Amino acid sequence: MGAQAALIGGTAFIALESLSALCPGCEVWAKAEHLNPSGTGKDRIALAMLAAAEAEGSLPYGGGGVVVEGSSGSTAIALAPLALAAGHRVVAVLPDDVSDEKVAELRAFPNVDARLARASSISSPTHYANEARRIARDLRAAGERAVCTDQFENDANWRAHHDGTAREIWDETRGRFSAFVASAGTGGTIAGASHFFKARDPGIKVYLADPQGSSLFSRVRYGVCYATQQRERVVRRHRYDTIVDGVGLDRVTANFSRAIIDDALTVSDADALVMAHYLLRFEGLFLGSSSALNCLAAVRVANRIRETTTRRVRVVTILCDSGHRYFSRFWNRDFVERRGLAWPPDDAAALREASLETAFFFATPDLHHFTGRAESRAPLGQPHHMIAPAVFFLVVVVLEFVM
Ligand SMILES: Cc1ncc(COP(=O)(O)O)c(C=O)c1O
Repeated sequence: MGAQAALIGGTAFIALESLSALCPGCEVWAKAEHLNPSGTGKDRIALAMLAAAEAEGSLPYGGGGVVVEGSSGSTAIALAPLALAAGHRVVAVLPDDVSDEKVAELRAFPNVDARLARASSISSPTHYANEARRIARDLRAAGERAVCTDQFENDANWRAHHDGTAREIWDETRGRFSAFVASAGTGGTIAGASHFFKARDPGIKVYLADPQGSSLFSRVRYGVCYATQQRERVVRRHRYDTIVDGVGLDRVTANFSRAIIDDALTVSDADALVMAHYLLRFEGLFLGSSSALNCLAAVRVANRIRETTTRRVRVVTILCDSGHRYFSRFWNRDFVERRGLAWPPDDAAALREASLETAFFFATPDLHHFTGRAESRAPLGQPHHMIAPAVFFLVVVVLEFVM
């Protein structure tokens, strides 16, 4: 699939030293997946899915096939050059709320037909993933060699991260780290990495970093896919509720179901924004929203583990993509302020202070009282916190009568 394929993987693994100021005594390290040739770790899965489709015969070797993918942008952008070099066309179906930059980039490829589907729930036939499956079926019925690569359900996805991303991190750290933190868009990264790490050291903890509005936090904590937005009977697709692109889900995909996760935490849009500006100010890293979300979650996890050990804590996370694809959304002051969010301060001291304020929550934003998995699974003041005092009171009353 051309020289592009040869550039995939082997990304830098870097220490984010400025983050140690937010979690004293801890180190946060990051796999710089934005350095892959198309700018994301999706290069790894695009290559793996195309190779698998050619190997199983659903795409013809030597070109002439059609690859159909439902994508929030990055996977389609990763597929396009590889498919082009291999002689295949691409039909990319994107939700209509993705950043304009992603659509423009896709439309620059001569082999790509980029279509927008109205952003909707996965239960709708017009959801971009369902639309992609339908288009592939129609193309096959019309006699084309078409395949829907379906990153959400495709096993080649988590395997690419297992054999690539995770193996590289393992070699780079020699297995010496306390925890791995990642968000999930398809779940491929966290599934592949958690399998790889847990098989070698079950003591390594794996944490899901979830954006606001996604149902996965509840899935990990309580076994049920749920987002608080649903409580208000305004069941909306999570993307309406977050400005963080590409991560968060309202369902359990085949890839996500393979992940072995110890715990989850939610990061609000406001806090992800502050972290993105912090990383730019103190590391010179211009990153996308999901990278910022991962880094803040990694800091919070490090602070939490720090409470339980005197040993040096090292947490590993992923830099998913750069800020260049988000000039019209996450890195656009007008857009951010129209969404009711404050643009983070330019001043270094103010930015450091704002970041410190966000570094210690380990909770979903509306459940700030979470302190841990076992001891507190509901906000303080909820009924289960009243059970022990009530039993104690009853025992005292009964004893009074008996004695
Ligand atoms: C920008 C961005 N970051 C992170 C991810 C998460 O990766 P994964 O699909 O492996 O869960 C995605 C994927 O959908 C993405 O588009």
